[in-house]
Amino acid sequence: MTANELRSKYIAFFKSKGHAEISGRSLIPENDPTVLFTTAGMHPLVPYLMGEPHPAGKRLTNYQKCIRTGDIDAVGDASHLTCFEMLGNWSLGDYFKKDAITFSFEFLTSPAYLNIPVDKLSVTVFAGEEGIPRDEESASIWQGLGIPRERIYFLPREDNWWGPAGETGPCGPDTEMFIDTGKPLCGTDCRPGCRCGKYIEIWNDVFMQYNKLKDGTYQKLERTCVDTGMGIERTVAMLSGKKSVYETGIFQPTIASVEKLTGKTYGVLESDDVSIRIICDHVRAATFIIGDPKGVTPSNVGAGYVLRRLIRRAVRHGKKLGIDGVFAAVPAQVIIDQYQGAYPELAEKKDFILDELRKEEEKFLETLKKGEAEFEKMLPNLLRNPQKIMSGRLAFKLYDTYGFPIELTEELAAEGGLKVNREEFDEAFRKHQELSRAGSEQAFKGGLADHSEQTTAYHTATHLLQQALRMVLGDHVAQKGSNITAERMRFDFTHSAPMSAEEISRVEQIVNDQIRADLPVTMEMMSLDDAKNSGATALFGEKYEQTVKVYSVGSFSREVCGGPHVERTGAMGVFKITKEQSSSAGVRRIRAVLEKN
Ligand code: ALA
Repeated sequence: MTANELRSKYIAFFKSKGHAEISGRSLIPENDPTVLFTTAGMHPLVPYLMGEPHPAGKRLTNYQKCIRTGDIDAVGDASHLTCFEMLGNWSLGDYFKKDAITFSFEFLTSPAYLNIPVDKLSVTVFAGEEGIPRDEESASIWQGLGIPRERIYFLPREDNWWGPAGETGPCGPDTEMFIDTGKPLCGTDCRPGCRCGKYIEIWNDVFMQYNKLKDGTYQKLERTCVDTGMGIERTVAMLSGKKSVYETGIFQPTIASVEKLTGKTYGVLESDDVSIRIICDHVRAATFIIGDPKGVTPSNVGAGYVLRRLIRRAVRHGKKLGIDGVFAAVPAQVIIDQYQGAYPELAEKKDFILDELRKEEEKFLETLKKGEAEFEKMLPNLLRNPQKIMSGRLAFKLYDTYGFPIELTEELAAEGGLKVNREEFDEAFRKHQELSRAGSEQAFKGGLADHSEQTTAYHTATHLLQQALRMVLGDHVAQKGSNITAERMRFDFTHSAPMSAEEISRVEQIVNDQIRADLPVTMEMMSLDDAKNSGATALFGEKYEQTVKVYSVGSFSREVCGGPHVERTGAMGVFKITKEQSSSAGVRRIRAVLEKN
């Protein structure tokens, strides 16, 4: 089975069960500063899982591109991917455990769909803990469908609980479905969830019953929801009897392009295979990130930094395989061809993707050159060291100042008969990571996922601000992005010149006039065409459903938006712009706060 076939079958199955197909969303989350990338199909749906009505109804299904960068360094083995596709179906206050599990079972085992023999399936359910009961209900539903009790495993929170991406949000117990690969058990406690590779998880049904609050407690949701996720790459591997996602048709064309570039053959030497897998995964992730409608380019912060790391790591492994110079466009082109049917944005942005890859590769190759020159300068001194050891501190300096990878330092050092004090380097590196992690955690705390009054007020303020900017600066102003926490908002928009002090104060005044007028905020659902004809603004390049929600603030502003918003503007506070600066070419960035009056 191919990825395309699996995608079509899944969507067709859930449509036949009354689900509406909604389009996947951008990889870069809108209005949600808790994460850098969309990490699961449910992620863009959080407001609806929390109670906002969805214009497409209560039963939804889709496929969603996702990025998870938690363990970039684990990529290279047979199963880790940073970029993957997830199939999902959702019940927004509609069906719950019984139907969700029955749908999953039917899709997996029905000859018309995946046709997986029941005796190859095992499932896990939540074992319970203080205050949250053991999920006997799900277990007996599975048993009723034909999964014998001995293949139903009760596991703790680490295995069978889905928590929010941020600190707060919808969560609950889940039930996971595993395929037995036929490998022998690795020990007496080998079971689904064990990492030895005997059991591979392909699907997860989450039962959202709680809202996790800021103080760490769980509040029962009145309206329970179902969120499921099936990883396309892994499922295709299992259905085609492959041990690894890299052996499937999904990765074969990309691997072939790297083989051609390097003259290596995949499957001969494990160390080469690791490099080939890293190149394939990272170039694929980079292609999707740059090619996203809200595409990011390499930089030193946030998502742009992750992208930079992915490209540079791919380049480094390209060098290891003997490639001299720029090459990522070759596998990227293969990926674009392969995915443009499911993700038309990749074809639309093809030149931009290939160009950004090339620029970043050139920059990194330049960095490597400088690092090597710097190393050459250090060498005579280093050689005087009788123990022939290069200090980890020095190696870290090369890394920190020139972005020079430790593996290359070690290689060059070895050529001069030197060994790098790796422990000292690792220690310096760990300290540096802790510092930057602390920094980024601070930067991404809070967010729309918590739905607090304050965050919601900021969200409404972005609508007022956009309209005020259009009135003061002109109709060319369009929102390019936003980022909201409970403490402040950030708003990016198209405009080429810095704003004058007078323009800033006029914008502030217009926004504050709307707040003082205590305007009602109303929502209507309509077709996207009607919304546009009625003068509502929509984000350029964003994909919308056929039916959309339009939020109006009095008669002042009208925008296509998922919500939530305040009911009236009166209690939002006093709007104040704290900074106006350039964000990128032709894009300005405003930071603003709502002060309590
Ligand atoms: N959100 C759940 C997951 O990603 C379904 O596993």
